[in-house]
Amino acid sequence: MAENKTLALESRIVQIGVGGDERTGAISYPIHPSATYRHPGVGETTGFDYTRSGNPTRQVLEEGLALLEGGCRGLAFSSGMAALTTLFLHFSSGDHLVVSEDLYGGTYRVLDQIFAKLGLTVTYIDTTSTGAVEAAVREKTRALLIETPGNPLLGVADLKALVALCRSRQLLCIVDNTFLTPVLQRPLDLGADVVIHSATKYLGGHNDLCAGALIARDPELGERLYFLQNSTGAILPPQDCWLLIRSLKTLTLRMERHCRNALQVALWLKDQPRVTSVYYPGLKDHPGHELSKNQARDFGGMLSFRVESPQLARDVLKRLRLISFAESLGGVESLMTLPAVQTHGDIPPEDRERLGICESLLRMSVGIENVEDIIADLEQALA
Ligand SMILES: Cc1ncc(COP(=O)(O)O)c(C=O)c1O
Repeated sequence: MAENKTLALESRIVQIGVGGDERTGAISYPIHPSATYRHPGVGETTGFDYTRSGNPTRQVLEEGLALLEGGCRGLAFSSGMAALTTLFLHFSSGDHLVVSEDLYGGTYRVLDQIFAKLGLTVTYIDTTSTGAVEAAVREKTRALLIETPGNPLLGVADLKALVALCRSRQLLCIVDNTFLTPVLQRPLDLGADVVIHSATKYLGGHNDLCAGALIARDPELGERLYFLQNSTGAILPPQDCWLLIRSLKTLTLRMERHCRNALQVALWLKDQPRVTSVYYPGLKDHPGHELSKNQARDFGGMLSFRVESPQLARDVLKRLRLISFAESLGGVESLMTLPAVQTHGDIPPEDRERLGICESLLRMSVGIENVEDIIADLEQALA
């Protein structure tokens, strides 16, 4: 990889792995499927012993992930949930976490149904209110996990204020940066300690890969997370590491188009009589608009909207032609989901209702197709 630190981030992303294979000079870094490696002698190593502990293709990816987020250490996992699970294993029984309530349902499920049994306690809070977060911190609180913008309602948390709070109370500040990616939002630069990604989403970007990532700002924490990754073993296989390296190279371009299309779709949806509200931080009347402008380069490709009735939401999903009714997000293809039933189905109904995740709320991952085609599909589906 070109080491020149004066290169812009997008140039350095494109150069991930280039020339790293010195024997061949390959532009596309090779896949190393070997599970194990010859030792030169007793107590000697080439740097690679066994692929769970280290793999050349994964190393290139992990260095690329660290570069991308501006951290010291990147780690690649077999899914976003594997990354989160490994991170939660850092904590001990009796520890308490404060977590965004506008959160991916799978994160809630693993905390509520698995880590609760292991003694972790969690308070879910509206992290768009720094005061509410502060009030939720207890003696045993060890970390704050923020998803911003939130999922599915796109609330925006004040990262700088929350980092300052974490510093003053000695909490680990963790940010799920899946929705915006480091191209748009760089939590480690703002002082967060760890970034987590479902790399299945924008980092992978093509709906053809399941992967996760953790990136640590500080080497000591990076080493601890590596220990957990190696001990528990949910690593990303080399073939998928290669695919993710390939995908990262177009991340900057893809994000530009996602953002441009999403803003146009959000503006169009706002004028539709059967749409009762639109949630997109790029809209001037979104409560997190100004904050978002201050802490992110753009507003991302995710939006949610509410329609007249649950029946209309179901009809829209049935009538879609170009946009797919499917879970997930962040790929080049536009997708739409019904969060109350799909991504957030594991959140207790009373909490969903309180949060406004009802059955007339649709979430859309705006793809990179021609925006007029996307709008035409929405128009016929809403008619
Ligand atoms: C914000 C966020 N974090 C984490 C995850 C979990 O990632 P994965 O599905 O790759 O396990 C998801 C999945 O949708 C997500 O949307």
